[in-house]
Formats: sequence, structure tokens, C-alpha cells
Amino acid sequence: MALKQHDLTFADPSEAEFAQILDFYGVNWDYEPTSFPTEWDRDRVVEMFTPDFYLPQMDLYIELTTLKQSLVTKKNRKLRRVRELNPDIDIRLLYRRDFHRLMAKFGFGPLATSQTPALESVMFGTGQIAERTAELGRDISVDYADKKPVLVGVLRGVFCFMADLIRQISVPMSVDFMSISYYEHDDSEVKITKDLDIDLEGRHVLMVEDIVDTGMTLNFLLDYLRAKNPASLEVCTLLDKQARRLTDSDMKYVGFEIADEFVVGYGLDYMEEYRNLPFIGILKPDAGEAANGAQK
Ligand code: IMP
Ligand code: MG
Repeated sequence: MALKQHDLTFADPSEAEFAQILDFYGVNWDYEPTSFPTEWDRDRVVEMFTPDFYLPQMDLYIELTTLKQSLVTKKNRKLRRVRELNPDIDIRLLYRRDFHRLMAKFGFGPLATSQTPALESVMFGTGQIAERTAELGRDISVDYADKKPVLVGVLRGVFCFMADLIRQISVPMSVDFMSISYYEHDDSEVKITKDLDIDLEGRHVLMVEDIVDTGMTLNFLLDYLRAKNPASLEVCTLLDKQARRLTDSDMKYVGFEIADEFVVGYGLDYMEEYRNLPFIGILKPDAGEAANGAQK
């Protein structure tokens, strides 16, 4: 579990908030553990870059920048230099916008709105979803013939996809659901609010997700499921927002890779609404910074 370094002084409140989110998902972190030299004057280091966080489980550095997008050019240049000089390390820059979107997903910050935004457009119609789901079902049926897999879904977003997917699987299988708590601004950790009923020991487990965004939820769940000693553990997600990924989770079956948009429908919600849409739609962008969508 994460070190709860709450007595640590952060340079910025957003860093403290980010640290809390990481704690919540059980992601270990170190605050500013390493400085990378970027400029030398002969032997003397004259400029360094110190990423805000290092996530040892993911071997990933994260630099949070809450500066206005227009002011990050200098930081970007420095980051490029660090990457050139240290090609083996992985550093992700999270812009203010990314951070707001991360917070808005949990209902906080400037992008979280209480009114119901309109839909902007349809991303995948019912036909497209059905077609892709049938393909996934066929692949799974081939890969899991004679394995009697247990498909595990996390409520509630996945219920439409799970219902359609299992009806496209032609080999014997079981299905189970669990439920977890979401981040709520306090120091807590993810809690299992509904546990599985089926014993996964020695079973071939296929975890089914509606959407993988930063990957922190999936990362937590895979650790949890792995601890139950399944014979195998793979992931099937309907939607993959690859661009926002912070963890590197291996996903065997992906329905659609999608751009960084907030989507609703077919089980997916925005503040518990829109789950009943039969298609997957993009929420209408708000004015100004919210132009990239408000989120749950
Ligand atoms: P992650 O931990 O950041 O990967 O977040 C995954 C969870 O966030 C999903 O299971 C969804 O509940 C929610 N989520 C992420 N992106 C969206 C979206 O575009 N629409 C609806 N829910 C989303
Ligand atoms: Mg979910």
C-alpha cells in the first residue's frame, strides 16, 4: 500500500490532491525523489529538472503542471531535454487540463458541473457496438474453449456490455460482478463495496471493463484479482482511452480505442445519468476550459 506522506509539504495543493488520488488507488509514490541534470557549464550542473512524482510500481515519473497551457512551453523544452538525456525513463506531463479532468471525473474542480450537459455527437451506434461485441465474443470463445472462464465485471458501467458480450460467447462460462467505491476527496482507499461470489482460485478469469482511462482502477482490480490465485487473468475492455493512461496494463481484448473525450451511454454515466442511451455518445463541450468535456 502507498506510503501516506501527508505531513509532507507540497509545492502546490494540486500535488497534494494528486497524491491522495494515488493513495486511494494504492499506487505507491515518491515526491520529487530525483533531479535530472539538463544543462552543464563544463562540469558544473547549472540546470536540473525534478519531476513531482515517481511511481515505482509503474516505473513512471509524473510532472504535474498547473500552469496555464501557454506557459508550459519552457517546461516542455526542459522535459524534452531530460528525455533525450535519459532515453530509458518514462515521464508523463499532466497539464492543468488533464488534472481538472481527472478531478472532474470524481465530481470535483472547475470542470465538474451539476447541470446535465447535452450530447455532442454519437461515437458508436448500436450496430457498431453489436458488431464489435460479436467479434470479441468469437475471439473469447476460441481462446477460452474448454477453460470455463469466469467473466468478472465491475459495476455499474459494465452491465450493458457484459450482458451483450456473454451472449456472444459460445463456450461454457460463468459471470460475476463486484463493486468498488470511488475517490471522494478524503484519505481513504478503494473499498470493495460488493465482493465476488465465485471463488476464483484456479479459474481462468477474464476481467471485463466498460472503459479504461488512467488505468488506476484496473490496476487496483488486477492486483485484487491476482491475489485470489486464478489460473489466468486477462482483460477485456469495450473502450480504451489510451491517451490518458498512467499505468501500463496489458489488455488482451479491446473493443475500440477512443480519443480523449468524455463518453456516455450504453451503461456509461455522467453523474449517474445517460446510462440508458442505447449508443455511446460524446458529451457536449462547455465553454472555455471545459471545452474538453465535463466528467463524473
Ligand atoms: P480510470 O481508473 O481512470 O481508468 O477510470 C476508469 C473509470 O472511470 C471507468 O470505470 C469509468 O467509471 C470512469 N470513466 C472514465 N472515463 C469515462 C468516460 O469517458 N465516461 C464515463 N465514465 C468514464
Ligand atoms: Mg467503471
